[in-house]
Amino acid sequence: MKHFCVIGSPISHSRSPALHNAAFQALAIDARYDAVEVLPENLKEFMSTFGDIYSGMNVTIPHKETVMKYLDEVDDCARSIGAVNTVVVDGGKLIGYNTDWSGFTQALLEGVKKSVADFDAAFLMHKPVLVVGAGGAARAICFALKQLGAVLYVTNRTHEKAQKLASDFGGHALHADELSKIQPLLVVNVTSVGMTPHENESPVSADQWAQWRVSPIQQFAFDCVYAPRDTQFLKDSEVAGFKSITGETMFIHQGAQAFELFTGRKAPPVAID
Ligand code: ATR
Repeated sequence: MKHFCVIGSPISHSRSPALHNAAFQALAIDARYDAVEVLPENLKEFMSTFGDIYSGMNVTIPHKETVMKYLDEVDDCARSIGAVNTVVVDGGKLIGYNTDWSGFTQALLEGVKKSVADFDAAFLMHKPVLVVGAGGAARAICFALKQLGAVLYVTNRTHEKAQKLASDFGGHALHADELSKIQPLLVVNVTSVGMTPHENESPVSADQWAQWRVSPIQQFAFDCVYAPRDTQFLKDSEVAGFKSITGETMFIHQGAQAFELFTGRKAPPVAID
């Protein structure tokens, strides 16, 4: 039997084991996927035996950047992003990938396609997009948005981090009181604000959405938070006329892409709660 895992701290909330174990079962693959709590001070020790025990893993907060120094190879996209969320053990070598950016892109394009009749994959080309948040996950989202040709704006509670992220990806940093200067075609939440048990919170004020709205153009809101599914951020955006795309779709796509890297097989559609 092959063993896989997701490491992070905290990790008990992760739905990755449910996703991957259901996929292994659906394809009758003899493998098991567990959640393993690894504290930052224990990462080095964990990585010293990881390749002997496991065939692959996913990596989440707070290890996505620090894990890179224990890998033999990191693919070009993950290196540009500066973070790894998937590690595959291949012939004894540890190889790092990032499926957050590609999972986001797939979820975004599917979500947009569902709600506009004349869908064009280049719909973000030269269009303003606002990223709310400037942590590790936001780097993957900015990378994806640059691939799609968007004009990138970043805002964050800690402005210096927004400035650094914007400058790394050729975007612009905005202070909280400058948000009405743009009329974004897409707004993405990449903070943890609004996650269970703080379901009533949003990193964007409820009245901001109406100021951004440019009717009749269809604008979009994307929340990378997936628990709860319908976040306050998305609810507020819908009131103003934005179309929402849930983080659950990104979670499923990043997981499916990791599954394909682990097994070389296409991930089956699975239902998780
Ligand atoms: P991740 O890897 O998921 O991006 P992270 O690097 O810890 O995790 O980043 C979390 C993001 O959520 C950051 O942008 C953080 O803002 P700061 O850079 O100011 O810390 C943002 N965030 C977390 N809690 C927040 C809160 N209560 N209000 C606003 N932003 C918050």
